[in-house]
Amino acid sequence: MLPAHDNATIEEVYRARTPGSARLAEAARGLFPSGVTHDGRWLEPYGIYVERAAGPHKWDVDGNRYVDWFGGHGALLLGHGHPLVTEAAARALAAMTHPGANHPLELRWAEAIQRLVPSCEKIRFTSSGTEATLMAVRLARAFTGRRKLVRFRTHFHGWHDHMTSGWQNHMDGTATRGVLEGVAEQVVLVDPNDLAAVAELLATDDDIAAVILEPTGASFGMVPTREGFPQALRALTERHGVLLIFDEVVTGFRVAPGGAQEVYALRPDLSTFAKVVAGGLPGGAVGGRAEILDLLDFRACEDKGEEKIGHPGTFNANPVSAAAGIATLELVATGEPCAKANGVAAELRRRLNELFAREGVPWAAYGSFSGVHLFVNPNGREIDPLAFDPLALPYQELKARPPRLVHRLRLALLSGGVDVSGQLAMLASATHGEEEVARTVEAFAWAVRRLAREGDLVRTRR
Ligand SMILES: Cc1ncc(COP(=O)(O)O)c(C=O)c1O
Repeated sequence: MLPAHDNATIEEVYRARTPGSARLAEAARGLFPSGVTHDGRWLEPYGIYVERAAGPHKWDVDGNRYVDWFGGHGALLLGHGHPLVTEAAARALAAMTHPGANHPLELRWAEAIQRLVPSCEKIRFTSSGTEATLMAVRLARAFTGRRKLVRFRTHFHGWHDHMTSGWQNHMDGTATRGVLEGVAEQVVLVDPNDLAAVAELLATDDDIAAVILEPTGASFGMVPTREGFPQALRALTERHGVLLIFDEVVTGFRVAPGGAQEVYALRPDLSTFAKVVAGGLPGGAVGGRAEILDLLDFRACEDKGEEKIGHPGTFNANPVSAAAGIATLELVATGEPCAKANGVAAELRRRLNELFAREGVPWAAYGSFSGVHLFVNPNGREIDPLAFDPLALPYQELKARPPRLVHRLRLALLSGGVDVSGQLAMLASATHGEEEVARTVEAFAWAVRRLAREGDLVRTRR
């Protein structure tokens, strides 16, 4: 229960609830940079250590229960530990962890993907989304014989060398630390939704192999895609023989059973998947036009007298991930999980905006499908949370996450039993419902009052 009328600060309340996490964090600092194993899990003074999870909840080592909107970084459309997924994975695990050979489940996994995403005429499995986009770029270059990749600023596609600039820094496209300038030079950055810039590029540069995007907008819609943009991009790329890559690592099997390409009624040349596709276990995939994927085919390349693209990967199509993926995709095919998660997110956005309006908090909750983002108003704009239009704002403002505010808001929400992502995003699952929404709104109400009291939030009125 959150204290309503005491003098404790947010940090004091948090520390009092989480002594076990504090001890582990202290030890972790000697093991991991910043004490964490993923940048998105960094929290000051320290993050929670989670011991178990079920449905929409997780429990930390101190026994606190949290409504989990982090959602396995987007992997958990079905929530934690769906019984059918867990049973399928456990059966596969008992049978073997690695066949060192082909195995029957990989066929069923690929067929399940194909049924939902018909543009995947052929598929290769990878171990992560980063590997999937890496392979997609390589395939696009080899297929077109061209060098350059067009990306949109703020869009995230994993952390390999072609994807590091322009999503959180280096918006001018220069190489981030440790990346070769020669690689960064072959990546052309364009502002999100800037169709005219893409048209100009494609008309004047015949060395462009592919355009890649997060189809519903950067980092699952924090910087949303304008209506009609994906369709216009499809027409434009087709006209210039440039490949269109939909990075559906988050949107795949989440926004709709067939992903964003089903929603937009489009057929990209290549698509990348991870997260939901592997049912909450590690795994990814790249799929698309057979003639492009055939650049990985021994016989097809030999027949054409072409060099084949290599594709090893110890855990490609791992059977445990395959089993979890099949079980998940079978449930997704019913349409219910996506619809339920989308509905819960819409309700959470509505209730948070009502709260912000009532409390005079100049923030807004926005997003699409099962995603909820927080606009935290870094420039102190006058806004009406109930009529917020993210497309009216520059991407820099939508993306801005003042570090002090992020850390303190997260501490306050955790103290109220709610976990949101390091980007202040909330990803709904099919197991979230009214109880979780109500608890979250309550935690936000406490958080904004305390943040205001501690000088981290200026309310327009009280
Ligand atoms: C759109 C998108 N593409 C690619 C990736 C990278 O996937 P992974 O973390 O599995 O490497 C992510 C991860 O969050 C993502 O959101």
